Amino acid sequence: MSRHRVLARAPGRVNLIGEHTDYNDGFAMPMGLPFETSVLFEPRSQPSAVIHSDGHPSIEFDFSVPPTSVDSWGRYVAGMVERYLTNVGPSLGFEARVSTTIPVGASLSSSAALEMAVGVGLHALNDTAPDMAELARWGQHVENTVIGIQSGIMDQLISATATLGHATLLDFRTFDRQPVEIPDTATVVVIDTLTRRELADSEYDKRRAACEAACAQLGVAALRDATFDEVAAIADALLRRRARHVVTENARVQEMAAALAEGDLPAAGAAMDESHRSLSVDYEVSGPALDAVVEHAQAFDGCVGARMTGGGFAGCAVALVRSEAVEEFVEYMAGAAGGPVPSDGPLCWPVAPSAGASATTIAE
Ligand code: GLA
Repeated sequence: MSRHRVLARAPGRVNLIGEHTDYNDGFAMPMGLPFETSVLFEPRSQPSAVIHSDGHPSIEFDFSVPPTSVDSWGRYVAGMVERYLTNVGPSLGFEARVSTTIPVGASLSSSAALEMAVGVGLHALNDTAPDMAELARWGQHVENTVIGIQSGIMDQLISATATLGHATLLDFRTFDRQPVEIPDTATVVVIDTLTRRELADSEYDKRRAACEAACAQLGVAALRDATFDEVAAIADALLRRRARHVVTENARVQEMAAALAEGDLPAAGAAMDESHRSLSVDYEVSGPALDAVVEHAQAFDGCVGARMTGGGFAGCAVALVRSEAVEEFVEYMAGAAGGPVPSDGPLCWPVAPSAGASATTIAE
């Protein structure tokens, strides 16, 4: 095995539409963000790792210990190392420096980006070739078994496979990935409420359980297979609303993809607005600050559509804004501060879609 340093990177993501559909075998349309996590790997002889990140104590672990015994954010790294050792083979040890420009805990997938950067980095360090969808599965496995969050695979899949300059229409059953062009008359704006999730994980698990219960009642493998009429006939009102969100959200992803392909911005925006309403009312995963910024954004003339993005409860919203009105929109959004939104918020970032995870080898 030749020895070289490796610089790996992977982006955070913003999801344009298709929320809480990934664990229902459904559809979503996320894109890579210009915010990313990078990891610089130095190979070393011992099968162990030392990882550093500014502002955090360094973390050291041996490849033979279970990832759950590793401290703090080192578990994400150790979990990906464990996946590599199990699925590919022995790996060089390393010393790594991690840095990120992704706001942490803001629903922009900072943990998936760390996992994917480590995944491509490990492959480059050991001169093996990654299968990007497989790396996404490793990341989901780390979340589910090491971190203990029953999340789906959207965040890892887009961080691994995002296409530069495009959003991606993801099919979580077939893993089909279609690049989607956003007309240049519209710009994606990420809106950070500056609120952060608390207790969101147990609510997330409850939503998954509700979807499974609805599937059992309907006799379908996943809510992807249920029709609107079938869902409307579910007797239990809460289960009915939860399942209705998933079925209608899958349809909205297709509507928005078709609208963008035709350059029909009003139709694309209407799907986003309706997605937020459904997430807030039927799925109940929005929150006061998210509702406030989305309502404020939607009232702006040049805002095509706006919704919460990611798991929900706090964190970020996303808006599609007419490109000529973006500057004015960013200034206007300052007016959403106050009430449930912190007085220094919200923060707005107009963003262009970035590329998925990659690694480069640095010659000694
Ligand atoms: C979180 C999870 C994803 C997905 C979204 C909701 O980001 O990690 O798998 O379920 O919530 O769409």
